[in-house]
Amino acid sequence: SNRTFTMVKPDATGKGYTGAILDQIIKAGFSIKAMKWTKLTKEQAGEFYAVHKERPFYGELVEFMSSGTIVAAILEKENAVADFRTLIGATNPANAEEGTIRKKFAASVGENAVHGSDSDENAAIEGDFFFSALERF
Ligand code: GTP
Ligand code: MG
Repeated sequence: SNRTFTMVKPDATGKGYTGAILDQIIKAGFSIKAMKWTKLTKEQAGEFYAVHKERPFYGELVEFMSSGTIVAAILEKENAVADFRTLIGATNPANAEEGTIRKKFAASVGENAVHGSDSDENAAIEGDFFFSALERF
């Protein structure tokens, strides 16, 4: 597929990095097909990250992802899922390549600035979680 889903996470919106992050995403060739500023309840964050329910950091993750504003977006580009994960870098910014979004803007493995879908299937599910048919094109 040529689409992926992203969120700018509460750490990055709170530090005023949203514009710089979106700028880097657009300059890397992604076009924005839907976007919204919103805030997740704990229940919504828990549902979004349900796949990580059994992991030791799940509680922390849900707490963090519902702690502030997020920016959710559907992105389009050839090879979108893989290319976007290359652009954001490793989950832990300490292991992320120089120049990646997480290397530049993330503070820790938990508060790591951005989300990127890990498969075409999840990109579609995650986009549908946030956007109705009227909100996307
Ligand atoms: P996402 O794009 O957000 O899905 O990140 P990812 O695919 O690189 O990592 P993964 O799906 O394995 O983990 C989801 C999110 O859980 C990460 O982005 C982190 O925010 C958080 N997370 C992962 N590992 C840890 C950890 O060891 N401690 C804490 N506190 N959070 C973690
Ligand atoms: Mg993931």
